[in-house]
Formats: sequence, structure tokens, C-alpha cells
Amino acid sequence: MAKSCKHPLLLSLTFFTFFFVHTSSSPSELEILLTFKSSIEDSKNSLSTWSNTSQTHYCKWTGITCSPTSPPSVTSINLQSLNLSGEISSSVCKLANLSYLNLADNFFNQPIPLQLSGCSSLESLNLSNNLIWGTIPDQISQLGSIKVLDLSRNHVEGKIPESIGLLRKLKVVILSNNLLLGNVPSSVFGNLSELVVLDLSQNPYLVSEIPSDVGKLERLEQLLLQSCGFHGQIPESFLGLQSLTILDLSQNNLTGKVPKTLGSSLKNLVSFDVSENKLLGSFPDDICSSKKGVINLSLHTNLFSGPIPSSINECLNLERFQVQNNLFSGDFPNGLWSLPKIKLIRAENNLFSGPIPESIAMAAQLEQVQIDNNSLTGVIPQGLGHVKSLYRFSASLNGFYGEIPPNFCDSPVMSIINLSHNSLSGEIPALKKCRKLVSLSLANNSLTGKIPPSLADLPVLTYLDLSDNNLTGPIPQGLQNLKLALFNVSFNRLSGKVPYSLISGLPASFLQGNPDLCGPGLPNSCSDEEEPGHHDAGLTTLTCALISLAFAVGTMIVVAGFILYQRSHKRRSQVGVWRSVFFYPLRVTEHDLVMGMDDKSAVGSGGVFGRVYVLSLPSGERVAVKKLVNFETQSSKALKVEIKTLAKIRHKNIVKVLGFCHSEDSIFLIYEFQPNGSLGDLISREDFRLEWSVRMKIAIGVAQGLAYLHKDYVPHLLHRNVKSRNILLDEDFEPKLTDFALDRIVGEAAFQSTITSESPFSCYNPPEYGYSKKPTEQMDVYRFGVVLLELVTGRPAEQSESVDSLDIVKWVRRKVNITNGVFQVLDPNVSSSSQQEMLEALDLALRCTSVMPEKRPSMFEVVKLLQSLGSKTNVSSVEFSAFQDHLVPV
Ligand SMILES: *[C@@H]1O[C@H](CO)[C@@H](O)[C@H](O)[C@H]1NC(C)=O
Ligand SMILES: *[C@@H]1O[C@H](CO)[C@@H](O)[C@H](O)[C@H]1NC(C)=O
Ligand SMILES: *[C@@H]1O[C@H](CO)[C@@H](O)[C@H](O)[C@H]1NC(C)=O
Ligand SMILES: *[C@@H]1O[C@H](CO)[C@@H](O)[C@H](O)[C@H]1NC(C)=O
Ligand SMILES: *[C@@H]1O[C@H](CO)[C@@H](O)[C@H](O)[C@H]1NC(C)=O
Ligand SMILES: *[C@@H]1O[C@H](CO)[C@@H](O)[C@H](O)[C@H]1NC(C)=O
Ligand SMILES: *[C@@H]1O[C@H](CO)[C@@H](O)[C@H](O)[C@H]1NC(C)=O
Ligand SMILES: *[C@@H]1O[C@H](CO)[C@@H](O)[C@H](O)[C@H]1NC(C)=O
Ligand SMILES: *[C@@H]1O[C@H](CO)[C@@H](O)[C@H](O)[C@H]1NC(C)=O
Repeated sequence: MAKSCKHPLLLSLTFFTFFFVHTSSSPSELEILLTFKSSIEDSKNSLSTWSNTSQTHYCKWTGITCSPTSPPSVTSINLQSLNLSGEISSSVCKLANLSYLNLADNFFNQPIPLQLSGCSSLESLNLSNNLIWGTIPDQISQLGSIKVLDLSRNHVEGKIPESIGLLRKLKVVILSNNLLLGNVPSSVFGNLSELVVLDLSQNPYLVSEIPSDVGKLERLEQLLLQSCGFHGQIPESFLGLQSLTILDLSQNNLTGKVPKTLGSSLKNLVSFDVSENKLLGSFPDDICSSKKGVINLSLHTNLFSGPIPSSINECLNLERFQVQNNLFSGDFPNGLWSLPKIKLIRAENNLFSGPIPESIAMAAQLEQVQIDNNSLTGVIPQGLGHVKSLYRFSASLNGFYGEIPPNFCDSPVMSIINLSHNSLSGEIPALKKCRKLVSLSLANNSLTGKIPPSLADLPVLTYLDLSDNNLTGPIPQGLQNLKLALFNVSFNRLSGKVPYSLISGLPASFLQGNPDLCGPGLPNSCSDEEEPGHHDAGLTTLTCALISLAFAVGTMIVVAGFILYQRSHKRRSQVGVWRSVFFYPLRVTEHDLVMGMDDKSAVGSGGVFGRVYVLSLPSGERVAVKKLVNFETQSSKALKVEIKTLAKIRHKNIVKVLGFCHSEDSIFLIYEFQPNGSLGDLISREDFRLEWSVRMKIAIGVAQGLAYLHKDYVPHLLHRNVKSRNILLDEDFEPKLTDFALDRIVGEAAFQSTITSESPFSCYNPPEYGYSKKPTEQMDVYRFGVVLLELVTGRPAEQSESVDSLDIVKWVRRKVNITNGVFQVLDPNVSSSSQQEMLEALDLALRCTSVMPEKRPSMFEVVKLLQSLGSKTNVSSVEFSAFQDHLVPV
């Protein structure tokens, strides 16, 4: 209300200004720019060059471009993303040659600056992402030269005025993400024959039929009307949109059928999205004109040779086809499956029928297929296995029958397969090639035979649902080595002993309905157990202990080997030569350092790379010294350069490197001392109690530190060893990352062998760590996610005392798979008033620890999300839906 009252007043004021400026004697361009600046608030002082005392010519001022003429003349002003606010002054229109004005991504809070309609040569106006409000006035039609108009992401209200239709030169109109209202006049855009982009998307109050005249726009390439209130039918006139490449009508209230010949008309289509409407009827099977029956590919011919049926040529460009969540029926358009560029097919939740043809083998770029919940039938085609780019194939809740072809998981990038709720029979083929498979659901079919033991060789398999089939035989022992978060084999005819780690922690219901399974906690105990339950558990623990002991011995041999090697290597120069480099004035000698480091000054149990000692210097200062093995992978000069790189980091959440000293066999890194110890130590204490606000502070600080290393610091660095023990806390619980980028000091090979030999199964290691040694930001994000889980649950990531207890990632994943399980993972020692925020932090932590690296947010996003978390008050239950992702196989 307040807004619309303010509007007329300001409008008349601005008009007055315009009139006034217009009648005064003509000022120089420099004066015009200074006047323009004078009404702008420039909180970051970005326009400091804009000054009449400045030495720089105004053509070189921030954001200004001039014509190359003599005298030069301002043609373009680009002040985007400078945190500007204040008033957009009309004075700018006195720049006779100004054709481009971009004020996007600022904080201008005012009505649409109508006075700009006096800018007679303005061709491009971008006010996107400000706080502009009010209606689009009819006077907009005075912007006679305008070609590009972007008012997106503001609070523009009211109707779209017919007068926009007078701006005949318009090529790009972007009004998305505003509060536009009501009916769109059917003729408004019809005369804009130059229009290439029309974007009205995300205007939820735009309740209207689609303006039919849009169909006249022969040059239109992008029509984006998604997420508005459009209802009624897709106009027949759309057949005229010959140049259209992107059509997005998703998330509206459209009804009726898709115009019959739409497919053959829109030959250049790259993306077709009509999802989430109420469209019905059969889909025109000439989508992109590939006529049914022309494709003749028999099962026995080589699918990759021979001529491609000519009609497909007309369809060359379609990449994305999205018609999900409608009421479409009839045969699924057959030609779609073999389009050369098709990447995405989404048609779930419709009533489509018909088979998937073998010609799917020709879809060489196909990445994702989601056709769940239709009435599709036929066999799963062999051709599927030929598509090497496919990473998701989801076809549950259909009528597919017959055997699963042995090559169905041959795509090397396949990560998600869901064929549940069909009528598939026969055995589950051995899966060998899909090393990236994360989720496999074959539930609710009629599959027989054994569970293939080869499943245990798929390194990142996390969700496995084979329930409601007719499977027989034992559960392969190897499966217990996988990090399974969901393992459901209920209601089959499995028999034999269940591997112990699959019983502990997983809901019992995932094993039920298999009367012949035995093991502790199950109705049947196995015949080879004397005293069921305890004894077996004891045995298993013992085995685990033995294994881990063997492992520890192995590790010791490796380490000892290294040390022996170092010793013998060193013997040649018995007297170690110490060199030290201090980046801060430390009054300490190498001798003090070496002598000070004894068991008394050692803290913690020793990290992966070496122990940390706390030394009191003669000056009274205390420092932390980390002792690393010097693998001598680089010259001392190169070492100095690397450590200097780390020492130059200045960030409140990263521990300062004060200096280092090194001999032939050791490197001592000297860090500033933090009195509160590490987060890891704190969480491991019985009496760990920290209020939620402090935990958030720690999480935000750590995230900021990592985001700084990843993106802001040059060179960009990876931490590579994020864990709660490497997060130190100062007096105010401000976190500080330590042990970062040690790979640069010890060298890549030594770094990797140390990490892998000392903590191969650490839950801080992301799943891809098993097969990809290339360090990535996403690996840091994963490790951060584990720390966030520790903060939310109050549990240390790994509980060292019991060998077979679940690590935090498995524990949380299994819990959130159980109804109301999410509430069980929250630390009960935190006040329940923080529950909402904790749930959201948990959701974020689950995203960070997503099995698929590309699904993890960047550290920058994490910082933003965590910061907004505290400031939010009432979060609607909608935001909870994120948990749904974790409930079922992805
Ligand atoms: C950016 O502008 C906003 C609002 O005008 C202000 O609150 C904020 O402090 C500014 N940021 C910077 C970095 O100047
Ligand atoms: C520079 O600006 C000041 C105040 O804005 C004005 O008094 C002065 O005349 C200007 N000088 C020139 C050379 O335009
Ligand atoms: C700038 O505009 C003036 C007045 O319209 C015109 O005479 C002049 O040719 C233009 N200069 C350039 C470089 O376009
Ligand atoms: C307007 O500016 C925004 C922000 O930089 C940019 O994303 C958008 O593409 C621009 N609009 C046009 C039409 O160029
Ligand atoms: C479009 O142009 C035609 C012919 O030039 C004219 O009759 C009609 O009024 C125009 N429509 C709009 C909405 O401007
Ligand atoms: C669709 O129409 C229904 C009533 O027919 C209405 O309740 C709903 O809000 C509309 N949805 C949109 C996105 O406009
Ligand atoms: C389809 O191709 C097969 C083998 O190439 C051939 O025998 C058959 O006659 C063809 N069918 C039609 C309808 O062209
Ligand atoms: C299947 O699709 C229908 C609409 O065709 C929808 O009503 C139903 O909820 C969907 N079922 C599931 C399990 O998603
Ligand atoms: C499982 O196999 C049994 C015996 O062969 C058969 O009677 C039953 O119908 C099968 N169940 C399913 C779901 O296929």
C-alpha cells in the first residue's frame, strides 16, 4: 500500500526534474555524468574515478565507453553490480549518443524511471535485479529506439500495458520474476516482429490465456512463460513460431491438447518443456517430423551403421524434451528415442503407452531418461546398453516385462537405475561396467535367481533395493564392504546367514519376508551358531578387531619402512643441517624448537601427518609446531616458496603459518597457538554441550575459510584434510582451519600414500576417493559436510573405541531413511527451539555429503545458505520436502 501511494508523487517529481534539466542550457558530457552521479549513493565508492578533479578523462571512468570519434562521446554506461542505490537521474538522457545503460544488480529502490523515456537513442536498458517497483506506465512507448529491455527480478506490478506493442524495434523483452498481474492482452506482442526473446516467466499473478498473437513472431527463438498462471490451451498459432529453439510453458495451468502439427512446425527446437500442466490427449507423434514407421531397425542389424532415416534429419537439434506431470495418453512419440542430440527425456507421471524402441541406441548424447509412472510396455531394449552417455534411467511403475538385458548397465557413467514396479522376470545380470552406479532399484518385479555377487564390486553403490521379487540363495558377503545407506531385500526367498554389518543399523524390515534367512536378531538363528546372538556378535567383533589389528600392523610396517628409509638415507649426513624461515618476528632458534619438542609438549594423539607440539618461546609467546616427515620431494628453495604461499593467507578462519624450519628428515611448521583445542577434541568429550548458535558460528567460519581457499585466495588452494580435529577454536569459539594444503609441502605422492595408508576407510573420505585420486573442491565440500553432521548430531565422526560401530555418515543416512528418523539424529542436548534450524543444517550436510560429487553445493553456496539460516524465522513445511530425496533411492 505504502508503495503505491508514494508512486505518483515521485513520478511527478521526476517528470519535473526532466522538464527542468531539459530546458537549461546544454551542459558538457562531463557535467552530465557528474549530475547523474550526484543522485546516486555509492556506498562502496565504486565511482571514485567519476570526479571533475580526477586526472582521468571521463571516457575512462568506471563503466563508461565512448565512441571513437573526435570529440569522443559517451555511448555506453555499465554500472552493474556496484552496490549502488539512490536515484536514477534523467540527466543521463542528455548524453545524445547513449545507447546502452546497464544498472543491473544494484539496490535502486524506486518506480520504473520513466524519465529515461527521454533517452532517444537508448537501445538497451537493463535494470534487472534491483528493488524497482510500481507499474509499467504507458509512457514506456516513448523509448522509441529500445531493442533490449530487461526489468527482471524486481517488484514490478500491475498489467502489461498494450503500449509496449508500439516499441517495434524490440528484440529482447525480459520481465521475468516480478509481480505482474492479470490478463495479457492477446494482441500486445503481435506487432513486435523483431522479437527474439520473450520472457514473462515467474510472474505468479499473471493469470491469463497465452496471448495468441505471439504465434505471429516468426523470429522468436525463446519463449519463456514458465511458472505463471497461464491457463487454457496452447494456441494453434504457435505453429508459426518457425525460429523457436526454446519453449518453456512448464508449471502453468494449461489444459487441452498440444496442437497437432506442433512438432513438424518447430524444426529448430532445442528445448521443449510443457511439464507440470494439465495437458492431455496423445502427443503429436510427429514431434520434429520423424514419422512413425520410417525407422526400421531390426534387432539383429548393427544399430550404428547404415543410413539414418532421413526424416530424423529434421529433428537434429532437440536436446531437452520435458512433458512430465501432465495427463498425456496414447503412444509415446517414438521418433524421440533416436534423435541425435537428445540429452534429456522426462515424461514421468502421464498415461503414455507403447514400447521403448531398439533405436534408442542411436541417441548418442542421451543422458537422462525419466518415464516412471506411465503405461509403457514391452521389453527393456538391448539398445539401451549402447548409449554410453546415459547416467540416469528411471522407468518404474510401468508394464515392462521380459528379462533385463545383460548390457543394461554398460554405460560407464550410469549412476541411477530404477526399474521397480514392473513385470520383469529372469535373473539380475552381473553388473560390471557401471563403476559409478550409486542407486539400483529393481523392487517389485518377478526377478529370480541369486543376487549377483558382482554388486559388491561397484565402489559407490549406496542404495540397493531388490525387495518384492522372487530372489533365492544367500546375500553375498561382499555387500558388507559397501557404504550402503539403503539395503532392502524384503519379501524374496533368500536364505542363509546375513552378513553381520548388514543386520546392525539397518531397519529389520529390510530383511523381513525371507523365512530362510538367519542371523542374530532374526527369527531364525543359523545352525552353526551355538549360542545365537551374543556369541556371533562377539566373534564378528573379534574378526573385525583382528582385521583392524592386521591393518594397523600393516600401516606400521609402511610407516616404519618410510622411517627406516629416511634414517638410512640420512646417515650419510649425520649432523642434520637446520634451516629456518620465519614470516613473523619470532625470537626462537632451531635449537629451542628441537629441544622443546618432547612428549611433554606433544598434544593430541598425533595427526595423520605427524604430531603437534605446543612450545613456550623465551618471549613468553606460545606456538604450535607440527612435525612432518621430510620426504625431500622438493628443493629447500621450492619448499620455501610453497610454505610462503601458505603463510601469506590472511583470513580470520585460517590459522597463520608463522614460519618453518627443516632438516633433511623433518619439517617443522610453526602455527599460531589456539588455546581452546580442536573441535574434534571437544566433540569427543562426554560432556560436549555447545548451544546451537555457537555451532552455527563454527560452521559458518569453517565454510568461509574453505570458500576463501577455493575461490578468493590466489593461487586457489584445496584443504584436502578437513575434519573436526583440524579445526581449532579460539577463546570465542571462532574456528580456524589448520593442516591445510599439506600436499604442497610433502608432495603429492607422499600426501596420498600417507592419507590412504593411515585412514583408508575414514568416513571423511568421499566415496569417489576410492577410484579418483584427482583432488577436487567437491572432496573438501564432502569433508565439510561430515563436520556439519558432527555439529548437528553432537557425535564424533568416528568412534575409535568400537571397531564395528557405524561412522557418522552411515549412521545418519540410515536414520533418515526411517520414518521420523531425522529427529533422532539431532543432538538431544540442543534446545528444541533450534530444531528447525538444525533440520535445515542437516539437510545441507546431507547435500554436502551427497554421493554424487556434482550434487554437492560449492563452499560459496554453503556460506550463503548457512548465513541465511540464522536469519530466517518461519520456515514453511515445503522446505522440508528436501528430505524426500534422501528417503528413497535417488
Ligand atoms: C551495499 O548496499 C547496501 C544497501 O544499500 C548496504 O547495506 C551495504 O552495506 C552495502 N555493501 C557494501 C559492501 O558497501
Ligand atoms: C567541479 O565540481 C565542483 C563542485 O561539484 C564545482 O564547484 C566546480 O566548478 C567543478 N569544476 C569544474 C572544472 O567543472
Ligand atoms: C552523437 O549525437 C549527435 C547528436 O545527435 C550526432 O550529431 C553525432 O553524430 C553523434 N555522434 C556519434 C559518434 O554517434
Ligand atoms: C542484464 O543484467 C543481468 C545481470 O548482469 C544479466 O544477467 C542479464 O543477462 C542482462 N540482460 C540482458 C538482456 O542482457
Ligand atoms: C499492429 O499493427 C497493425 C497494422 O500496422 C495495427 O492495425 C494494429 O493496431 C497494431 N496493433 C497494436 C497492438 O499495436
Ligand atoms: C491453477 O488453477 C487452480 C484452479 O483451477 C488454482 O487453484 C491454481 O492456483 C492455479 N495454479 C496456478 C499455478 O495458477
Ligand atoms: C526393415 O529392415 C529389414 C532388414 O533390413 C527388412 O528385411 C524389412 O523388409 C524392412 N521392413 C520395412 C517395412 O521396410
Ligand atoms: C502417477 O501419475 C498419476 C497421474 O498420471 C498421479 O496422479 C499419481 O500420483 C502418480 N503416482 C505416483 C506414485 O507418483
Ligand atoms: C515366485 O515364485 C513362486 C514359485 O515359483 C511363484 O508361485 C510365485 O508366483 C512367484 N512370485 C512372484 C511375485 O513372481
